[in-house]
Amino acid sequence: MTTRAPEKKNPYRLDRTVEPLVYTIELEPDLAKFTFRGSESVTFRAARPFSKITLHAAEIKVTKAFLAGGKFKTPLAARKISYHEKFETVTLDFGRKVAPKEAERLVLEFTGHLNDKMHGFYRTSYEIKGKKHWGAATQFEATDARRAFPCWDEPDAKARFKISLVVPEKLTALSNMPVEKQSRLPGGRKKVAYEVTPVMSTYLVCFVVADLESLQGRDKNGVLIRIYVTPGKKEQGKFALEVARHALEYFSKWFGIPYALPKCDMVALPDFASGAMENWGLVTYRETALLVDPKNSSAAARQRVAEVIDHELAHQWFGNLVTMRWWTDLWLNEGFASYMGPKAVDDQFPEWRIWDQFVVADTLHALYDDALQNTHPIEIPVQDPAEIREIFDAITYSKGSSVNRMLEHYLGEKVFQKGLQVYLKKFKFKNATTRDLWAVLEKVSGKPVRAIMASYTDQPGFPLLKIEPDNRAASRFRVRQERFIFDGTPDRARQLWNIPLVIRGAASKKSWVGILKSKETAVDLGEDRHAWVKVNPSQSGFYRVAYPAEMMEPLIEALRERSLPDPVIDALGILSDALALARAGHIETSRVFEIARALGNEREMNLWSLIAGAIGAVSELLDGESLKARVAEFARALLSPCLEDLGWERRPADSHSDILLRSMMIFQAGHYGDEGVIDEARARFRKFAAGGELDANLRGAVYSLVAENGGQEEFSALVKIYRASSLQEEKVRVLRALARFRNPSVVAEVLKFALSKDVRNQDCYAVLASFGGNDHGRHQAWAFIKAHMKDLMARYTGGSISLLGRILEGASTGFKTPEELRDVETFFKKYPVNGIERTMKQSLEIIRSNIRWQPRAQAEILAWFHS
Ligand code: BES
Ligand code: ZN
Repeated sequence: MTTRAPEKKNPYRLDRTVEPLVYTIELEPDLAKFTFRGSESVTFRAARPFSKITLHAAEIKVTKAFLAGGKFKTPLAARKISYHEKFETVTLDFGRKVAPKEAERLVLEFTGHLNDKMHGFYRTSYEIKGKKHWGAATQFEATDARRAFPCWDEPDAKARFKISLVVPEKLTALSNMPVEKQSRLPGGRKKVAYEVTPVMSTYLVCFVVADLESLQGRDKNGVLIRIYVTPGKKEQGKFALEVARHALEYFSKWFGIPYALPKCDMVALPDFASGAMENWGLVTYRETALLVDPKNSSAAARQRVAEVIDHELAHQWFGNLVTMRWWTDLWLNEGFASYMGPKAVDDQFPEWRIWDQFVVADTLHALYDDALQNTHPIEIPVQDPAEIREIFDAITYSKGSSVNRMLEHYLGEKVFQKGLQVYLKKFKFKNATTRDLWAVLEKVSGKPVRAIMASYTDQPGFPLLKIEPDNRAASRFRVRQERFIFDGTPDRARQLWNIPLVIRGAASKKSWVGILKSKETAVDLGEDRHAWVKVNPSQSGFYRVAYPAEMMEPLIEALRERSLPDPVIDALGILSDALALARAGHIETSRVFEIARALGNEREMNLWSLIAGAIGAVSELLDGESLKARVAEFARALLSPCLEDLGWERRPADSHSDILLRSMMIFQAGHYGDEGVIDEARARFRKFAAGGELDANLRGAVYSLVAENGGQEEFSALVKIYRASSLQEEKVRVLRALARFRNPSVVAEVLKFALSKDVRNQDCYAVLASFGGNDHGRHQAWAFIKAHMKDLMARYTGGSISLLGRILEGASTGFKTPEELRDVETFFKKYPVNGIERTMKQSLEIIRSNIRWQPRAQAEILAWFHS
């Protein structure tokens, strides 16, 4: 059943005759010249005699290399130092055989430069009193430690690190461990030496040098927690401190293993490629993922901060203490941090109902991406850095965490927890594979964990369960599995999954539970299937379901009456499945609108977010002003009772969901043309732009509506807000709104602004990718991206290439005609970018799917309005 490809011999991997034990590293960055110099001494173990050592190094010049200690009285210098650019290695040739115990350590000196690519050892800028200052930071995952110091840059080459930094006296210098010793050096410098780390992988090493302020606390186990920010932002770190304190306590208890280090620092860096990075003891964040401004931050931003912190702190166990053996098993890091993070969030903020949000943000997101031909199995052989970078995607994160949720629902919480505790204890300070984990869980649970989970981690895609009535009895039906792909190509591989199957009927409170292994099975629920039958209650199974019409009707009725066991999550599943089935051509697109209409009385944020997303997806596909106008009218009628209930003003009794929902509904109503809402948004904007107040929760919606309905004047006002704020959250809010302008001359200015000095490289996707959702600006933005591709590639290659992937994907996947497809295809062919090839293929596949869906949707929605 499993079709795992055998691991190929990987030319990018090092020969491990010599393996590192302890690295002693000293680095001195020069923040004026953007260079650094380093020296390094590595004790090692040699398995056999050797005459050469090859280790990773990229954009580094080794100026000295010799072997010392052991039997050497005088060091043995390398005769030849040579580099291999493609494999990112340096080879030290000692000119003769060296016996295993003959030498004790390898000593190196080297120089490098502080790049502006947000990877390796990079520079970051910030302002103090209007003046630009520079700092330096590292981002090593996955394969960029080699840009800061020569090393065995592979996750299973674990070693200890003893780091020292030489920096200007006034700056703060941080690394994974606490300071052991500090001393003054001439020239206004200091040398900061840190304690030696436990045995760990290179990708988790980190150092940061900048003007920083901090606040601190301790968790109840005595772990020191510090939040570091650039000057003036200390107040904004308070929330993070509370979340971190809770997370460390929660995870030490849940895993039954104390946090491994004496301290846990968290730093907000002004330039950052992804959201955050779990470096052991020194977690780095994008400012928006760590900082909360009491007055100017939205509830959504606060939630995001908690989610990111809890994800990164889960890694301190899952990833840092126990590490995947090779990147093929990356999901052991990311799929588990993405599953454990929400547990901690839910424990601290139960009123956020984070698991409802998980279903939308992770499970449904993964089911979308995984329905493409160009998906990949969770476990996938990867060899070179570009391939490794590409799998930090929704399959690894969101499918990975969703199949973990499926597993926990199947095993039960206690058994799942026990299994993970045993696994972590068994492999701590070591590396593990997916198979190692299944073996432990199988032993602890006594259940066929491996067979079930391997069917989800070894194969691409997921099953669609087709329910077919069995006319012999009203209580019977058949369940059949087949791979679900949007483009409907038959599954020649005839994939099968081992599916933990749960089915509930209206009459009994009991569930039917079994493992579906074969192509098809018969189910007798013992009650009439003409009352509702819900397959996959709570959406814990990673699959979609297609019901026959006779079983769909009662389900829609049950949605209307709110009588399903989990009214929110079950509705999310039914609506999302319908949207996917409509896209793939299994059902009529109008079904989606029918289900949406049945949910009109709901007041829950996740449901409305999915309803709005579904209507938006269909509406953007349609042609013709009059049909679009009818959809807009339908949307307004559906939304307005909910918006009327909520109103514009925050009420004391508002739940977290109400607060998030209000801004969403305001934007949607205005977007679909509710004049009253647009006027109110404009009025509130005018007041705010003139120095008045505006609830941070409403700003995103207000800015966007003002942009959709505005021109030059509104553009200038938004840019003014952008420049006046030092809060990155506010800046990003403005950037997203800027992508909503419709007037061509303003759109041109917005695009120019996106690539101007005002916008950091980390943020410009917020504008460019968002244009994909703007019917009026999409073509102009695409033409602009094409014309500036060389500039964009220069910004993102050799570092955060996935940001370019997000731009191209976001800007192109709204296209829906063959001409547009040809244009995108030609462009992607002209610029094959290493590291985002799969993203490009996926984008083309989505456009093709839009093209196939368009005429169907057009006809079906038109007919529905006329019926
Ligand atoms: N390990 C990643 C950071 C990372 C991402 C490194 C991509 C290399 C390439 C980190 O733990 C992470 O997953 N961060 C997420 C946030 C999280 C809440 C999903 C991110 O950066 O988006
Ligand atoms: Zn992660």
